[in-house]
Amino acid sequence: MQRTSVNVFPFECAESQLALADKLLTLSGQRFQKVFFATTGAEAVESAVKFAMTSTGRTDVVAFRDGFHGLSMFSSFMTGNPFWTEALRWKPGNVHHVDARNFAALEDTLASRKIAAVVFEPVAGSSAAQHWTADTASRLAALCRSTGTKLIADEVYCGLGRTGTWFGIDAIGMDVKSTEASAVPDMIVVSKGLTGGLVPLSAVLMNDGDFDAVFGAPGKAKVQGSTFGGNRLAMQCGLIVLDLVERGRLVENAAAMGALIGERIAARFDSRVTLHGKGLALSLKLDARLDRSMTDVWLDLIDGGVLAMPNSAAPDSLRLSPPLIFGVDEVEVLIDRLDEALQP
Ligand SMILES: Cc1ncc(COP(=O)(O)O)c(C=O)c1O
Repeated sequence: MQRTSVNVFPFECAESQLALADKLLTLSGQRFQKVFFATTGAEAVESAVKFAMTSTGRTDVVAFRDGFHGLSMFSSFMTGNPFWTEALRWKPGNVHHVDARNFAALEDTLASRKIAAVVFEPVAGSSAAQHWTADTASRLAALCRSTGTKLIADEVYCGLGRTGTWFGIDAIGMDVKSTEASAVPDMIVVSKGLTGGLVPLSAVLMNDGDFDAVFGAPGKAKVQGSTFGGNRLAMQCGLIVLDLVERGRLVENAAAMGALIGERIAARFDSRVTLHGKGLALSLKLDARLDRSMTDVWLDLIDGGVLAMPNSAAPDSLRLSPPLIFGVDEVEVLIDRLDEALQP
């Protein structure tokens, strides 16, 4: 592995940076060869977009309506829901929004050959845990490949175990370890779970080609950098968290507990409540005929000690993101509290 860090290029990087980068690349089955460290999810998503723009020489970006990519200036505008930007009196001219899985619109937009990157969430956090399927995701990847567009998976929410697989793309059947270039995104962005939410840290996993286009020579390394990117505290924290997740078999636990929650909800509530998502990246939907509003249920759940979250892009749904250590007892508490919250 190259022993230099882009943040202090061209000096050697710290052992802990190498170790964490190595760990992430190993988890990806060496599908990627380089890691760029940043601090927040939004910063890493924007970094990936800058890398795509530099690598392709193109100017524009496609994101999906109802997606969420963070609230820094550019990522706010990649976020498809106008809720986040309507108070602003400006918008960039190079972000195009397409309805998720509207391939006719995608093909039209990508045909312009102006698009540097398509940014997508394999399993979305803020739009009712909507997810791509093996079919639609591979169609998206193939379309990007045939038009020279970089495909960026924003796994800030769904990555590193939450979906019951290490990467969200695996949960939707894309297979991060595939040897077929067109079957996997060009870059994957991870963050939140990397330090268990404790220390700000995000990372972009990328391939040699895109990395070299940006950082290939000392004079080139101007496109992106971050004072705190790769800081030692975050590196150590990332190493410890990934080790705990691995040793505790928490990815497997996320898959098992997600399945159990699904079974328990189907058994207790029939069609009154449906569960969507993958692993522990979940969303509850209430039957429209129920007397209780989603807000009533949400507030009752909070009172009962269950943290759930309304969805900006799906007001009839409640986001559930239990920690990866969630166990059988906690599932029973969740089901009981939900039952109480549904009482008229
Ligand atoms: C999918 C996704 N992308 C990007 C972000 C932005 O991350 P941050 O708040 O760390 O900037 C989030 C945060 O919720 C997210 O869920």
